[in-house]
Amino acid sequence: MSSPVIQTFSLSRDFGDKRAVDGLNLEVHAGEIFGFLGHNGAGKTTTVRLLNGVIDPTSGTAHVLGMDARTEGSILRARTGVLTETPSLDERLTARDNLSIYADLYSIPRQNVAARVNALLTEFELSDRADEKVGGYSKGMKQRLALARALLHQPEVLFLDEPTSGLDPVAAKHVHTLVEHLARREGRTVFLCTHNLVEAQKLCDRVAVMEQGRLVALGTPTELTRQYVKRLDVELEVDPSQVELALQILRETPRLVLGSPKQEKDMITASLAGRDAIPELLSLFVNKDLRVYRLAPQEANLEEVYFALNGGAA
Ligand SMILES: Nc1ncnc2c1ncn2[C@@H]1O[C@H](COP(=O)(O)OP(=O)(O)OP(=O)(O)O)[C@@H](O)[C@H]1O
Ligand SMILES: [Mg+2]
Repeated sequence: MSSPVIQTFSLSRDFGDKRAVDGLNLEVHAGEIFGFLGHNGAGKTTTVRLLNGVIDPTSGTAHVLGMDARTEGSILRARTGVLTETPSLDERLTARDNLSIYADLYSIPRQNVAARVNALLTEFELSDRADEKVGGYSKGMKQRLALARALLHQPEVLFLDEPTSGLDPVAAKHVHTLVEHLARREGRTVFLCTHNLVEAQKLCDRVAVMEQGRLVALGTPTELTRQYVKRLDVELEVDPSQVELALQILRETPRLVLGSPKQEKDMITASLAGRDAIPELLSLFVNKDLRVYRLAPQEANLEEVYFALNGGAA
């Protein structure tokens, strides 16, 4: 495998006596959409700032695209794009001017600026209002403009700190499509901080969960759900005349079935003690001449992992 695009070694950062990031070891690979999850104050934004050399680590190292974030921050930032948590746009200027000024800062050749800015305004559906002052924009429009700005210089690595917070579902979906496009078609690496677990599940190849500055879980969404969610919910459809029999078998097998099975018309749902409960249960059904038409496991999701890790605390 190629060398990681992001690599940290024992990365730590203190603010006074508060340790915001605590001994973080992380590797993110080219073209990956990497989700960074954790409660408020878990250290996500601080990590993004460390990775871009905006602040220095107290100890440990962070390398991005092979460069040391602490000593080579300015050349590194020319190749990364960052959507910060609360992006600062110049509200007195138009969207077009906001982008054009940044194009200059990123040293985009003058003759290419207008075309690049127009392409982004179109992509983010801001063309109609491109020449209005940003102060009059809605939150979602500002967020889209900030995202367009982060992409101006076609960065190889994109850091998105809660990119869909405050967006309506249509705008959020637009961002998701864009992130997928950037990673899947263009091979860019995306480091995505989010509180939206559905978003993380849908988009991310791997996710890391932070808690009080420490990495507490790392893996693909499927790996994490298998590891942390032992329960397996299933839907069961049996011969309509045998629903009661099915419920009785489920209730009499607490070793395999957690809690009480639920019934809605001919459909039964139950929580099993894991995947291995399925074959055992099926052979029990067969022994009792129960006609099973369908037994469908429901995939657990990252939300359940998150709550399992945090002991149910929101
Ligand atoms: N500049 C700073 N000065 C003092 N403390 C800070 C500073 N920046 C961050 N912290 C502290 O570091 C910890 C981690 O903060 P950080 O902003 O990285 O969390 P986060 O995971 O991004 O949270 P959120 O989900 O709320 O955005 C918090 O306790 C925060 O108060
Ligand atoms: Mg944050």
